[in-house]
Parts: sequence; structure tokens; C-alpha cells
Amino acid sequence: MQTLHVELGDRSYPIFIGQNIVSKGLLTQYITGNQALIVTNETVAPLYLKALKDSIPGSIRVDEVVLPDGEQFKDLDHLNLIFDQLLQNRHNRTTTLIALGGGVVGDMTGFAAAAYQRGVNFIQVPTTLLSQVDSSVGGKTGVNHPLGKNMIGAFHQPQCVLIDTTVLNTLPEKELSAGMAEVIKYGLIYDEAFLCYLEDHIDGLMGLDSDLLAQAIFRSCQIKAEVVAQDEKESGIRALLNLGHTFGHAIEANQGYGEWLHGEAVGAGTMMAADLSCRLGWISSKDVTRVKAILEAANLPIYPPNEMTPDQFKQLMAVDKKVLDGQLRLILLKSIGEAVVSSDFSVEKLNETLEAGSNLGDCC
Ligand code: NAD
Ligand code: GLY
Repeated sequence: MQTLHVELGDRSYPIFIGQNIVSKGLLTQYITGNQALIVTNETVAPLYLKALKDSIPGSIRVDEVVLPDGEQFKDLDHLNLIFDQLLQNRHNRTTTLIALGGGVVGDMTGFAAAAYQRGVNFIQVPTTLLSQVDSSVGGKTGVNHPLGKNMIGAFHQPQCVLIDTTVLNTLPEKELSAGMAEVIKYGLIYDEAFLCYLEDHIDGLMGLDSDLLAQAIFRSCQIKAEVVAQDEKESGIRALLNLGHTFGHAIEANQGYGEWLHGEAVGAGTMMAADLSCRLGWISSKDVTRVKAILEAANLPIYPPNEMTPDQFKQLMAVDKKVLDGQLRLILLKSIGEAVVSSDFSVEKLNETLEAGSNLGDCC
């Protein structure tokens, strides 16, 4: 087992990464009171709920809530199901919420923990690649609103993150690809050597080679921990973790939450960010080809939906959290391994990218 630390002063916490660790009782020491509520969903519960519950000593009363599965249920109505359980079972301020599932369960559980009785502890047990490398680390929690993705939420750091790489064996292939979009992101924004590692091993990674995956998860979490430690509340460098996300969130909202997986939308969004970076003369067409190749090798979509118009993109992108004083800011690539937050692009260049469709990356 490997351990990393997210260094945030009195809110610091460990990330444990290893095989078959869900059942090892590691999280018990992070349950501070004698009550806990496991939040999971109808897909993950039959797979891992019993093992997790059995790992917690009988002296702790463990309740559970099983949510419907899907991004379309990541909303205030379904968040209330968590509060219903907490209140019906008289959980007090010493309770600990435990998120067992992907990013949807993790974001909702974290937000419930941030809000319940003005804030209680929670633990992340992420079960998708995406949640293991991204959403479980860093304390962003929340739910969607029909007018915007993740628009209602809070920063609330977990007590620990328990990453059991064995659970990825039951993950559908499409979900593995979606998670790989966020892994690739770290290479593109922060560490070209890591991107080279991914390029060299993408077949093994997609084939679920456990050693390769453990290394990729470790490096991804290490980068995320470094960035979050510098900028917990996203007033600077943390925004770089959103490469491809502004375009991607617009795709998700336009298509209806749950139609495109978050990671798939990030894949196409990353290609759009690379295309615009190239049109601005910041990266070469060879770099864009490299971005396209690694996204394709991870079986990710590289083009936005055909029917989405530039106006639809712009309307949805206007509610992005990175919009400042009415000005759209995007994460773009200065080179492979170096990203910037920028509003330094003309409307014409942005339009070219939004209109490029399946010619993305061809004409820069
Ligand atoms: P998800 O939570 O919907 O999980 C994907 C699917 O896999 C679901 O059907 C789920 O039930 C299933 N599943 C989970 N674990 C499984 C397993 N081990 N075996 C079989 N099936 C399993 O999606 P996700 O990709 O994990 O997360 C996406 C969400 O994360 C989005 O809502 C996104 O906004 C959010 N997110 C948040 C952050 C953050 O910093 N908080 C970062 C990135 C993404
Ligand atoms: N997923 C982006 C962030 O955590 O900041």
C-alpha cells in the first residue's frame, strides 16, 4: 500500500492507495464518533457495501443510504435523501459520512457532510478511476442545477481517502475511459514525462494492468495533492485542473446530465482546448495530434456533439465558475505539460474552434 498526504494545515489528510484495502478496516481510525452513514448507490452497493460495512467494528453504529445511480440524480432532491437518513436515525455532530462510489456519490456525500448540522466529517472511498484520481481528492463537493453543472456546493475536505484499485475490475470500459481523461489531463497540464508514461503504457492501462494503474493513480493523486495544497479554494493554480472542463460542462448540460459521461465530455473538451491553443500559436499542430492520439487510445470522444452550435456553447460556457467580471476564462495549453488560465483569445478564434466540429485540430 502507498500513502500520500494532502497538506492543508489542520485539514491535512492521507490518501491510501492499494489492492483489496476496502475490507481492511483502515478507515475506522478516521471515524471520530460512534455513528456513521455510508452513502452509496444501487450499482455499487451489491458489489462493495457489505465488505466495507464488515470492516467497521460493531461498536460503531453504521446506517446506509442507497441512492439511484446516475448524474441526473446529482441534485438537491436526491441530496435530501441523505439528510432524511441522518435525521431519521438521529445522527449528531460527531457522525461520519462515508462515500462509497464514483464522483457522483462522492460529491453528494461531501456536500451533505459540509451542510449537515453546519459540517460533519466524511471519508471518501472512491470506486471509479475518475473519482480515484480526481474527485475524491481536494474537497470540492456539490450538486448540479438545471442551469449549470456543480453550481451548488462547498469546499469540504475529507478525513481520509481510501483508494482500492481492485474495485476497478468491475468498472465498465466506458467508465475506465472517462477516468483516463482526467489522468491524461495531469500529463497535459503539469508533467510531460507523465504524459510520455501514459503514451507508452496506454494499452496496459486500458487492459487494467494493476501495477501500471497503481502508478498512474499515485502520480495523478500526487499532482492533485500538490496543486490543492497550493490553492485549496481555486483562486489561482487549481483552476488549471479544469483543462477541457468549460467546453465539457457545456456539452454535459446541453446533452442532458448522464447522456455524455463527465470524462467523455472532458475528453472532447480537452481536444477543443488543444485546438484553440494551437490556433493561438501556443502549441504546434504536432502537439494537437499528440493530444488527439492519446485521447483516441483511451477510447474517448474527441469531437463535440454534431448538433451543438457555437451559440449553445457560448450560452452554457457563460455560466462557468471561471467567468470573471463577465469575461470567459479558459484553461489552455502553452506547451505540453504547461497550462494557463487565460482570457487572452479573440472571439473569432474561439468561434473557429466552436465551429470546427470534426475538423478540430486540422487547421491550426
Ligand atoms: P459516477 O459516479 O456516475 O460513476 C460512474 C458509474 O460507475 C456509475 O454508474 C456507478 O454506479 C458505476 N460504478 C462506480 N464504481 C463502480 C465499480 N467499482 N464497479 C462498477 N461500477 C461502478 O461517475 P464518475 O465518473 O465517477 O464521477 C463523475 C462525477 O464526478 C461528475 O458528477 C463530476 O462532476 C464529478 N467530479 C467532481 C470532481 C471534484 O473535484 N469534486 C472532479 C471531477 C469530477
Ligand atoms: N477537478 C478539478 C478540481 O478539483 O479542482
